[in-house]
Amino acid sequence: MPPENVLRPFHGVRLKLAKEFIGFIGPDKKFRELAKEAIGDLIPVGSTSAHKTYHALEIRRIRQKILPGLVAEAFRELPPIINFRMSKGGTGKTTVSANVATCFAQCGYKTLVIDGDPQGSLSMQLGFDINRSLTHIGTLLERLSKAQPTQIHDAVVPVYSGGMLDLIPADITLANDSWMISTMGREALLQRLMEQESGFFKQYEVIIIDSAPGASLLTTTFMAASNIITAVVIPEAQSVLALEVLEGNIEEINQSIRRTGPKLGLHIIANRYRQTYKSHNDALEKLGSKYAPYLNDTIIRDFAGFLRETDMSDFSKSAPVLEKEPNSVGARDIIDVTKALIKLYNVKMSAAPSAELAAAA
Ligand SMILES: Nc1ncnc2c1ncn2[C@@H]1O[C@H](COP(=O)(O)OP(=O)(O)OP(=O)(O)O)[C@@H](O)[C@H]1O
Ligand SMILES: [Mg+2]
Repeated sequence: MPPENVLRPFHGVRLKLAKEFIGFIGPDKKFRELAKEAIGDLIPVGSTSAHKTYHALEIRRIRQKILPGLVAEAFRELPPIINFRMSKGGTGKTTVSANVATCFAQCGYKTLVIDGDPQGSLSMQLGFDINRSLTHIGTLLERLSKAQPTQIHDAVVPVYSGGMLDLIPADITLANDSWMISTMGREALLQRLMEQESGFFKQYEVIIIDSAPGASLLTTTFMAASNIITAVVIPEAQSVLALEVLEGNIEEINQSIRRTGPKLGLHIIANRYRQTYKSHNDALEKLGSKYAPYLNDTIIRDFAGFLRETDMSDFSKSAPVLEKEPNSVGARDIIDVTKALIKLYNVKMSAAPSAELAAAA
């Protein structure tokens, strides 16, 4: 891939995963021919061997070649927002956000991921040093509320080249949301930002937001912009109670902000599951009996690789499991969860705008 000012190196996925992400079930030889046809000019000389890896933009171009009827960019609507949220700390919201965002991009979808937690853990997990100066989503919303130019590009950090994975990072200053108290229509601020800057947001096919655990004006704003809230829970007794709290927040939003139009829905992903734990199996059963229609079929297993993602000594060495250990059980579960989210949120790939390819070439 051409050099670009990205956060850290990403060397692409191997043939087997590339075929899976593209949905190609034919022989390898046929796949390589197809890849050469679709991305010939992006493949560096001498890398057409079995060892070639496929970058997110290359996967996108191959998919675009074989998928019929893609929608032209100019007519696209604003993309779906996947807001990972839970009224309980440490359930894996950030881990799942970072990995699912990576998986979307590796499947060829143009992805924007917003760190909505002042702790900045998502930013660090994706390789961003939060001790650098940054513009976070709170600054953009505040500028919008004061009718100042949002200068949205100040906030965007490319993680993958070709605009395939962009990050709006966060640091502790995002905790200051007191300016929102006196702001009229504060719950709708993110929606307003997306409408005002639709040219920017429409270049993505999915937007992922990681949220802090507690309820705040900011988390409400994020929830109000989404159509379905995706809760991440650990299968433990407390999770059922925490879900009741979250359901209460959703109900509140539906009654006050969403009196008209589509109601805010709920989706649940169970994380850190240990098959040998009786407590986990009991809790899963409880979750199943109360929330069956909302539960994702894939349960993310407890996998130690997730604990190795962030390198606090050198953030540029941090990366999600999907990049560090793509053949692990952790990566497998993330891929399956992402596939389910593509369907649930109706995430669509658009036809390639020539500008995007020109920028990457
Ligand atoms: N499936 C998993 N297997 C093993 N460890 C996991 C898994 N998911 C998350 N973890 C670990 O659990 C811890 C908490 O995860 P994470 O920070 O993603 O949770 P969170 O919900 O975002 O927390 P917070 O509420 O503080 O924002 C981290 O150390 C992470 O590495
Ligand atoms: Mg978190």
